[in-house]
Amino acid sequence: MALPFFSSTSNIPDTSAVPRHIAIIMDGNGRWAKQRFMPRVMGHQRGVESVREVIKACTDMGVEYLTLFAFSSENWRRPADEVSFLMKLFLMVLEKEVSRMHQNNIRLRIIGDKSRFDDNLNRHIADAEQLTANNSGLKLTVAANYGGRWDIMQAMHALSLAHPERATAFGEEELTPYLSMHYAPEPDLFIRTGGEQRISNFLLWQLAYTELYFTDILWPAFGRAALEAAIQSYQHRERRFGRTSEQLKGTGDA
Ligand code: FPP
Repeated sequence: MALPFFSSTSNIPDTSAVPRHIAIIMDGNGRWAKQRFMPRVMGHQRGVESVREVIKACTDMGVEYLTLFAFSSENWRRPADEVSFLMKLFLMVLEKEVSRMHQNNIRLRIIGDKSRFDDNLNRHIADAEQLTANNSGLKLTVAANYGGRWDIMQAMHALSLAHPERATAFGEEELTPYLSMHYAPEPDLFIRTGGEQRISNFLLWQLAYTELYFTDILWPAFGRAALEAAIQSYQHRERRFGRTSEQLKGTGDA
C-alpha cells in the first residue's frame, strides 16, 4: 500500500505557518455547564456550537485537516444517561449538519470502533461519509469510540492478516496504511481545552512529533479567537524533528 504522507520518524515533513492538520480534544463541557448551574449535557449541546465555529475558522484559514475527539473508548464509563445523550447528540449532528457540511465542500470521516454503535447511527455515519466522499475542502475527522491503543492494535491485526506468512519483522511504515488516519498527514498542532494536560489515548501513533498546546478555556467557550491564539503559539515553536537548533538555522556544527 502506498504511503501518501511522510512519517515524522523516517522523514522530515514539510511545515508551514498555518498547520496543515489540527487535532483537538474538546474538554470542559461538563464544567462549563456546572458553572452555569445547568446539567452537564447542556455543555455538550453548547459544545456543538464551538465545533461549528472552529470548522468555519479552519476553513477560512486554510487548515486542510481537522480532527476532533468526540467520544473516547473510555467514555463508556460515564453515567448511562450521559452516554445515551452523547449518542443522540451525535446522531442529531449528523442529521442536521451534514448537508451544510456538504454545501461547504467538507469531507467528513468518522474513525473509531463503530461496532458498539446502533444500526441507525452506523447508517447515518455511512451515508454522511458517502455523501461527502468527493469533497475537496476541509477534511474533517470525528473520532468516536476511538482509542489510540485500539487503533494500533486493529492496524497490527489487519497488517498481519494481509501478510500471514510474516509473523514478525514488520516495519513502522508498513503499519501506517492500516491506521485509522492513514489518509492524513500527522497532526502539526494538538489542542486540548479544559485545563488538563494529557493525551488521553487520542492519536498515540500520530502525535509523535506534534506540537502540543493546552488551554484552560472550556470547550463551549472556545472559538475563533482562541484557535488563533493556539496557532500563534504554534508559529513560535521550532520544529526540529530530532535535529539541533543550529542545523535548522544553518549555523554552527551541523
Ligand atoms: C468532554 O467534556 C467532551 C465530551 C466527552 C464530548 C464532546 C462532544 C461534543 C463537543 C459534541 C459533539 C461533537 C461532534 C463533533 C459530534 P467533559 O464532559 O469531559 O467535560 P468536563 O471535563 O468539564 O467534565
